[in-house]
Amino acid sequence: MKRTEISQILKYRDAYIDLQLRVDGWVRTVRDSKNFGFIEINDGSCFSGLQILLERGALPNYQEAVKLISGSSISVIGVLADSPGGKQQVELRARTVRVVSASPPDYPLQKKRHSMEFLRGMPHLRARTNTLSAVFRIRSLMAAAVHRFFGERGFVYVHTPIITTSDSEGAGEMFRVTTLDPAAPPLDGSGAIDYSRDFFGRQAGLTVSGQLEAEAFAHAFGKVYTFGPTFRAENSNTPRHAAEFWMIEPEVAFADLADDMCLAEDMVKYVIGELLDGAESELAFLNSRVDGELLSRLSAVAGAAFARITYTEAIAVLERHNSEFEYKAAWGRDLQTEHERFLTEKILKRPVFVTDYPKDIKAFYMRQNDDGRTVAAMDLLVPGVGELIGGSQREERLDRLEQRIAALGMDAEAYRWYLDLRRYGGVAHSGFGLGFERAVMYMTGVTNIRDALPFPRTAGGAANGL
Ligand code: 4AD
Ligand code: MG
Repeated sequence: MKRTEISQILKYRDAYIDLQLRVDGWVRTVRDSKNFGFIEINDGSCFSGLQILLERGALPNYQEAVKLISGSSISVIGVLADSPGGKQQVELRARTVRVVSASPPDYPLQKKRHSMEFLRGMPHLRARTNTLSAVFRIRSLMAAAVHRFFGERGFVYVHTPIITTSDSEGAGEMFRVTTLDPAAPPLDGSGAIDYSRDFFGRQAGLTVSGQLEAEAFAHAFGKVYTFGPTFRAENSNTPRHAAEFWMIEPEVAFADLADDMCLAEDMVKYVIGELLDGAESELAFLNSRVDGELLSRLSAVAGAAFARITYTEAIAVLERHNSEFEYKAAWGRDLQTEHERFLTEKILKRPVFVTDYPKDIKAFYMRQNDDGRTVAAMDLLVPGVGELIGGSQREERLDRLEQRIAALGMDAEAYRWYLDLRRYGGVAHSGFGLGFERAVMYMTGVTNIRDALPFPRTAGGAANGL
């Protein structure tokens, strides 16, 4: 007999009632009450599990079944019936229960609630818990929604390289990729490591952003996006920074900063809308267990316009509250997470775009404003997370870009191809990067990026060989 997935049973419940079905899955909980036993089984096809009813007199291996440890895998054949019990609508009345693999009693996931910290110690098992299974299914739905969003709008999906020779953010946070012998690297005449003898003939690393390559494709396709892994050797051990994270980076030709913000706002709202439609059980569970304001926040965001203020305005507001901050806000300094959260949570109480940052605290490629001190940058700040998106209009004027590269002492030769984009048919263009894990945090309520990544890599912590 072929197995039926629990998702199908719950979806087409009426069609399956009174039918004999086979359900395979993993035991979540077992209860034995005199003449009846109950197993909650989950097969991963949906958030909900299914109750299996065992009858002592009717099931030859009743004793074996009610002694099963959580985590065991079983295959059950039974008849689907309306359930008289409170919670669940249907149950499978077992005729046979075949134990596929019985867990020993040391199975680490108990019925009681475990802390997120405890579960981080077992990334290979934690997706079997309700909370993490809700988070990772939502993560998957969000990724699909992102592709749908751009697909519906005619964007071309480009796979930008993971190994690269340019530090596109210029922040010096690249992980190195090399095949040189770390104990005895070849040296040049001045005693420095001779990367010309390395695998790629020059220094290479893992990408910190696909933006620069996306800009090249935007000048061919007009509207493109990348969605892939990015790597940063930031040594910041915070709940918001990972060494390996995923970024969504659209890049649009003939678009200015205002167009860029509209696209970002539409995308965030689209993904939330898709979740409210498609992840009801997961969101309801997270709302009850993880973040009591999740549902109201997501519904509010889907319906209201995001705020927009300039960096200069933001600093003026923050300076009035400097006594409340560890780091004092001042014009010319970057915003700290405490400032970002204060703006979005306390002042505006909704997502806010902060625009036009001082050029000295932003990347070289951002378009200079006429005031000579700021650039056409935008960050989207959201409650609970802080910076969710960083984006900008790009400097399309060749002379300005060349001056900036020179002023920052960057290697102009390495950016020759990037300058070519301005030389040959350059146009106004804009884009942004959305940190996918930050979005997962925002849309699930988890407060640590380690719980938004299936197998997190953070400074000092890739766990257990996984
Ligand atoms: O603001 P960032 O550094 O912008 C860029 O990389 C641009 N090239 C994007 C673009 O315009 N195409 O990073 C973008 C976003 C941040 O807003 C944040 O959400 C996320 O990426 N991010 C991180 N997420 C997790 N861990 C880290 N270490 C992150 N660093 C940035
Ligand atoms: Mg940023």
